[in-house]
Amino acid sequence: MELAPDLERVLIPPEAIARRVEELASEIESDYAGERELLFVGVLKGAFIFLADLTRRVRLPHTVDFMAISSYGKASVSSGAVRILMDLREPVVNKHVILVEDIVDSGRTLAYLQETFNGRRPASLRTCVLVRKERERADVGIDYLGFTIPDVWVVGYGLDLAERFRTLPYIAEVKRSLYQK
Ligand code: IMP
Ligand code: MG
Repeated sequence: MELAPDLERVLIPPEAIARRVEELASEIESDYAGERELLFVGVLKGAFIFLADLTRRVRLPHTVDFMAISSYGKASVSSGAVRILMDLREPVVNKHVILVEDIVDSGRTLAYLQETFNGRRPASLRTCVLVRKERERADVGIDYLGFTIPDVWVVGYGLDLAERFRTLPYIAEVKRSLYQK
């Protein structure tokens, strides 16, 4: 596979992502079989590709909505605070919500979202995360997890580094010189 310059190595090739997404979709299908009000909430921007692939494989009636949040600055350094930049169009009361996130690093963003959604009284709340970094963090509940990766900065399949590399078909590690000053 042709590797873009600035990338160290491919961690998860496209075929492995596709296989895992299919498995996650099957799990969700059997867990929510018969449920009417299933709502997938994608967290922009990072989750847009994962959400699109996942939801197209879930053969159950469902709806999709988006939320945009910001917890980082333009580069890879955490600024700490989580902010809602764009909220859902409809209330989630009585809906079975699955929050779809691209990646869990410190776990702060997901914990914030879970707290926010629980306060909105959905019928149920679960989380589906494509990749989680292997590192110490506050225990954050992930119900459906794609992959666990080392604690490095990754891009592709929706993930970016300062808006670069988002639409690569694989998930790759960025060269350290790009994110460690
Ligand atoms: P957390 O709050 O530290 O778990 O960070 C979660 C958010 O940080 C994710 O939703 C991403 O937007 C961003 N993020 C963390 N690590 C990476 C990475 O390796 N690549 C791209 N984005 C990342
Ligand atoms: Mg994100």
